[in-house]
Amino acid sequence: LDISHLNTMAMPCVAEHYAEVSAEDALVSAIKAAQAQHLSLHVLGGGSNVLCPPLIQGLVLRPLIKGIFSDIQHKKGQVLLTVGAGENWHQLVEWTLGQGYYGIENLALIPGCVGAAPIQNIGAYGVELSDVLDSVKWFDLQTHSFKTFSAEACELGYRESVFKQRLKGQAIITAVTLKLSLEPSPVIHYKPLAEYFANSAGPVTPKAVFDAVCKQRNAKLPNPGAIPNSGSFFKNPVVSLSQLTRLQKKSPSIPFYPQPNGCAKIPAAWLIDQCGLKGCQVHGLVVHAKQALVLTNPKRLELSAVINASEEIAATVRQRFDVQLEREPQILGA
Ligand code: EPU
Repeated sequence: LDISHLNTMAMPCVAEHYAEVSAEDALVSAIKAAQAQHLSLHVLGGGSNVLCPPLIQGLVLRPLIKGIFSDIQHKKGQVLLTVGAGENWHQLVEWTLGQGYYGIENLALIPGCVGAAPIQNIGAYGVELSDVLDSVKWFDLQTHSFKTFSAEACELGYRESVFKQRLKGQAIITAVTLKLSLEPSPVIHYKPLAEYFANSAGPVTPKAVFDAVCKQRNAKLPNPGAIPNSGSFFKNPVVSLSQLTRLQKKSPSIPFYPQPNGCAKIPAAWLIDQCGLKGCQVHGLVVHAKQALVLTNPKRLELSAVINASEEIAATVRQRFDVQLEREPQILGA
């Protein structure tokens, strides 16, 4: 089955077998059937953070489990929201605002589904999922049982979690529980947001933050429906203090964000931009002209071209700055 339309990078992809499931029992049945036939299993969510090879052996499984259950805890001023993995993330953000549940307005317009959010600990505009995550329910492919992990057990880091590391290929997330506030508490310390509100007359409300984030994202990030892409293609590299000092000697204006452990995060977009790659074609792919961290695939080229482009960009940055870039999207079926 041709599933090219299910990855936002529009990479040509055929799955040997493909199934969608909309409930936990159907998910378990599909897994058991696949394992009985010795088929390898590959879970696909919204397809916005994956690279797809031309052919995937085994079963590509898409959990489309829906539903939002609210447990309002007035005394604590919070609400626990348990959300099916197949819900769309941005629609959830909009819905919470309408309900008066606050805390994820900065994460507006992040593509993909709710079940994928903990895997890479989605984050933008000064908020990460880890700030609001309560727990994650997942199906263990080894023990054939459902488990619930507290936020702590998910080992969330910058674009990292236990699901990308120790439990890679072993867990299928079916629901995510968020802890949101019943009181507005807008977060606007991220520089572009702080500047936006410093220059705007209106009050800083969660809705205003949501609108500001949507405006800034729409101005910089290409809509995958129009230009195939998978958002940030590289992680922002974290360097040691001595590396930062070395980089500052060469480029005094280098932007950096100090980390709690004494290291510093450098915007990969800045490194790529400084190499003169912004707006350029690399192996048929294009470094987005408005945000150098985004690699677009207008020609809908296959995995090998994407990997070649990715390696060439990383090599160019390495030669110029001696910093290693790490790819963010994962290869499905690898
Ligand atoms: N910059 C450049 N050239 C560019 C773009 C940016 O030099 O073409 C420099 C600027 O100095 C700018 C800095 O890079 O101040 C940071 O840029 P930006 O605010 O756009 O954020 P980012 O670090 O590039 C990260 C996330 C995005 C998220 C934004 C906003 C990662 C890998 N990416 O990008 O996440 O939307 O912050 O918070 O951490 C995604 O993961 O798909 C994604 C879009």
